Amino acid sequence: MLDVMADVTRTLGGAVLMDGNRLRDEIVAQLRVEVEAAGSPPVCLATVLAGDDRPSHVYVRAKHKKAEEAGMLSRGVALPGSASQAEIEDEVGALVDDPSVHGILVQLPLPEALDPEPVLALLTPEKDVDGLTERSMGRLVRGLPGHVPCTPLGVMRLLDRYGVPTSGARAVVVGRSTLVGLPLTLLLARKGVDATVTLAHSRTPDLVETCRQADLLIAAAGSARMIGPRHVQPGATVVDVGVSRTEAGIVGDVDFDAVQAIAGAITPMPGGTGPMTIACLLQNTLVAARMQNAFPA
Ligand code: GUN
Repeated sequence: MLDVMADVTRTLGGAVLMDGNRLRDEIVAQLRVEVEAAGSPPVCLATVLAGDDRPSHVYVRAKHKKAEEAGMLSRGVALPGSASQAEIEDEVGALVDDPSVHGILVQLPLPEALDPEPVLALLTPEKDVDGLTERSMGRLVRGLPGHVPCTPLGVMRLLDRYGVPTSGARAVVVGRSTLVGLPLTLLLARKGVDATVTLAHSRTPDLVETCRQADLLIAAAGSARMIGPRHVQPGATVVDVGVSRTEAGIVGDVDFDAVQAIAGAITPMPGGTGPMTIACLLQNTLVAARMQNAFPA
């Protein structure tokens, strides 16, 4: 059972709506208070965006807007889709060497012709606010302090805020991406969180049955509305991380209208995990500034 806050919104079917916009706004406001209380030292997030993928441009714009609201500075490096591997690596290298930049995010996916691995490999662990480099991921696996990828971290913050119990819960994560599924599996299984986690994916033979075991079901496969009511145990918490562009518009991995009638708690899409990714990116940026002695401890 959820130990929910008094003022939650519920869906038509009675599920608790896990409102990512609201929690993001709270986190951004709190960051602003922290920054101002420290005398507003410059804390700077840099983004690197290559090509003209429209959704990526929208996401990056939102990151800059929220950084400003949090009292932070931001810098955007935009490269044409024709940029060479050397050009993007030069740009990222310059940001790594620039002491006035505390966090760097390379927006993915890069255009087809660019290999993200050598680009990400340039980031130092302190500035890797997206937590996607080998070293940050390795630290997560080994349980060492470091930046944690923002979307999985945002999911964990939502679960915490809405009082979703994790200790002893059966969690099923659908999707094995390095951006979300893999790190989220690690976070859910961590000591202190203590869920028993199954990582399901497109080759899982009995996906419906597997998902129905879940007290906590996290859909992160990027497959439009793949999770329907058959997949959901009554009362389960359902978190939608998917974003797919379809003829009907942008939809998540969860068939929200059908699933909300069964779930105990559910994230909307949009307005669920997406805003939380940005909130956690900004939190990581403040931590990054602290690591670089640019912000008081
Ligand atoms: N593209 C979609 N989500 C993300 C994210 O969290 N980080 C980066 N770098 N690229 C993304």
